[in-house]
Parts: sequence; C-alpha cells; structure tokens
Amino acid sequence: MSEPLVCQRDAFQLAREDHYFNCAYMGPLPRVAEEAGFAAIQRKAVPTRITPPDSFWDTDALRELYARLIRADDPTRVAIQPGVSYAVATAAKNLPLSSGQNIVLTHEQFPGNVYSWHRLAGESGAQLRAVDPGEGADRGRRWNERLLESIDSSTGIVSVPNVHWTDGTLFDLEAIGGRCREVGAALVVDATQSVGALPFDVAAVQPDVVVCATYKWLLGPYSLALTWFSERFEDGVPIEETWIARKNSRDFQHLVDYQEEYIPGAVRYDMAERSSFFLAPIARASLELILEWTPERVQRYCRDLTKDFLTESAELGYSVEDDKWRGSHLFGLRMPEGIDLVGLKETLAARKVSASLRGSALRVSPNVYNDEVDVGVLLEVLKGAVR
Ligand SMILES: Cc1ncc(COP(=O)(O)O)c(C=O)c1O
Repeated sequence: MSEPLVCQRDAFQLAREDHYFNCAYMGPLPRVAEEAGFAAIQRKAVPTRITPPDSFWDTDALRELYARLIRADDPTRVAIQPGVSYAVATAAKNLPLSSGQNIVLTHEQFPGNVYSWHRLAGESGAQLRAVDPGEGADRGRRWNERLLESIDSSTGIVSVPNVHWTDGTLFDLEAIGGRCREVGAALVVDATQSVGALPFDVAAVQPDVVVCATYKWLLGPYSLALTWFSERFEDGVPIEETWIARKNSRDFQHLVDYQEEYIPGAVRYDMAERSSFFLAPIARASLELILEWTPERVQRYCRDLTKDFLTESAELGYSVEDDKWRGSHLFGLRMPEGIDLVGLKETLAARKVSASLRGSALRVSPNVYNDEVDVGVLLEVLKGAVR
C-alpha cells in the first residue's frame, strides 16, 4: 500500500477563507497548470515558438497521460475532443441501432450524455430507457440492480456515468460491462465525475467509450475532453474531417496531396484544431500531477477527510448513501426534516462554503486541497441549520 497523500492545498491558490467543496462543478487549476497556461500564452505571442510540425503533435502527450490514468494500453485510442456532448455524438454517429432495440441510460443523467441518444432513438425508432432508482432504502444497490435488469437482448447501447453527477451514486461498471457483453450491447461511459479522483480500469470494465471532460476532477481547462474508443470504432466516421487526422499530415508542404486514409487509432475523432496551444499544456500539467498523486490516493484522502464529518452529520440527522454505492469525492447529504434551505444557502455563502444545493440535498465534492478546517466550517454550518 502506498503512503497516504497529505493535504495538497499549497499546490493551489485557494484562499484560507474559501472552503471549496465543489469540484463536481469545476476543479481549481493547480499552480503548475496555471504556470503552464501563462507560458502557453507567451509562446503564441511569438509564433515562431510554435514550431511546425512538432508543436502540432504535442497533444499526443495528453493521449498517453489519459491512457495511463484509465489503465488503457494504447494511447492512440484516445481522441482530443471539446466536451462530453461531442464524444457522445461521435459514439451515436457510429453505433448501429434499429427499431426494436433500446438504449439504456440512468435517470437524470447529465444532458451532455442524453440529447444525442434522444436524436438517435428518434431517427432509428429505438426505445430509450432511463432507469430510475425507485423509492425507499438501499437506493444505490437498488439502482444498480434495476440498471442491470433493464439491459436485455434488445439493448444496443448502454450509456451511463461512472458516478452520478447529482449525488455521487456509484454504478458498478464491471457488472454493467459484463452484462453488455452477454447481450452484445456497446457500453459508453461518461467518467467526467470520477476519473482523476477514482481509479478506472479499461481492462476490467471493457467499455467502448470512456470520456472525461478535463475541467472537473482532471483539474484542467474548460473546453477539452479526452475520449478513449475501443476497436469497435476503428473504421468509424468522425464528426469533423480534420486534415491533421489524415495520413502524412505531418508533411506540411504536401497537405494538398489529399489523402483518403486516416492516421490509425482514434485520432480521426479529434476535434478541429486539436493541437489547442493554450489548453493542452494546462491539461498536461494537471494530468501529470494527478498521476503523481494517483486516483487511489486521492479517493483515500477524501474518504479519510470526510469519515468523522459524516458520522457527526449523521448524528445531526443528515444522511448519506451507503459507502459501497457512493464516491468519497462526491456525495449528496440529505437534509433532516424541517431544514430552512434558504437560510442554509445564505449561511453557506456567508461562511464561504462552496457546495451545490440540489433539491433537498447538498452535493459535497471535496478534493486534496480540502482539509480539517474546511470540513470543520461545513459541519458548523450544518449544525447551525438544525438548531
Ligand atoms: C457527468 C457529467 N458529464 C458531462 C458534463 C459536461 O458535459 P459537456 O462537456 O458536454 O459540457 C458534466 C458537467 O457538469 C457532468 O457532470
């Protein structure tokens, strides 16, 4: 077992009075990533610093880092994309589906992983199944069971998150992956709310797509996502026909010797101008840092940090999903009866506690920059709300 992580607050410029429990909304940039961003801007100020063609291939480092993070062995299967919606649209464009088949999603899934499926269902005549958890105790376990039960011999596609964005419910991707293989369905995973803070293993899950936006748990920039595609996508059609994804594109002198062939792997699914001179260096610095910390240690840090806090908030009447079915980096605290939500919102703001109120639950998403002081202030606010 590796050494536990110590608090990494100094790696960020969060002020002492800010108690930031909202990485599920947006991750802060570590200082090294900020510096990489400033250096990237300075490079563009003098374009000769951006040397053709090598600078245009710097993004290959992102493929390698992401592949390591999700334990995939071939970095050329990673595409550089602008967001989750784009990755899901790429998947929807390339996965065959016909009427009589169905697409399985989870209830209240993030819309970036929904609308392309609405379109595909409308165009193909396939049925959409958004599986809800139902009412009562044991919500996480039941939601997982229902999800598995909804995957049947007519299922063509299962497109689910690893961790639900609203309350941190964990979906057992290994079991879902196994069920998909039994029925021959493709598995698309939106790992935006987990990769970086929770281990992910492509070999164990055997998915077809694993997309992660970089601006949350990858502590990177907005407008960038990394997407791993399985062999199923080997000969697919991209959303944009970029010149750089074609054979011999490194040879800038002969770009008008148009090529029918693509560079092998998932490079064809890269977005236009994927070399992204400003964003890629920021994402790279953050990914390197996370790989140094390791997602296992980030998760353990969050678990250790919140353990006593969760026991004490349970004594106050707040409740949380069973450990087995939720992340320690993202969870929904359900309120006791009679809480004044307006008052709670005001106190959170006054004490500079950032967390998202969603319905009658508070979404808390800590990370390695949070410490006992942050957790103490959050607990004081929760105590105040039940008085
Ligand atoms: C689970 C999940 N997926 C995706 C996104 C972002 O989607 P997109 O990159 O299409 O804007 C979010 C943002 O909150 C999210 O929570």
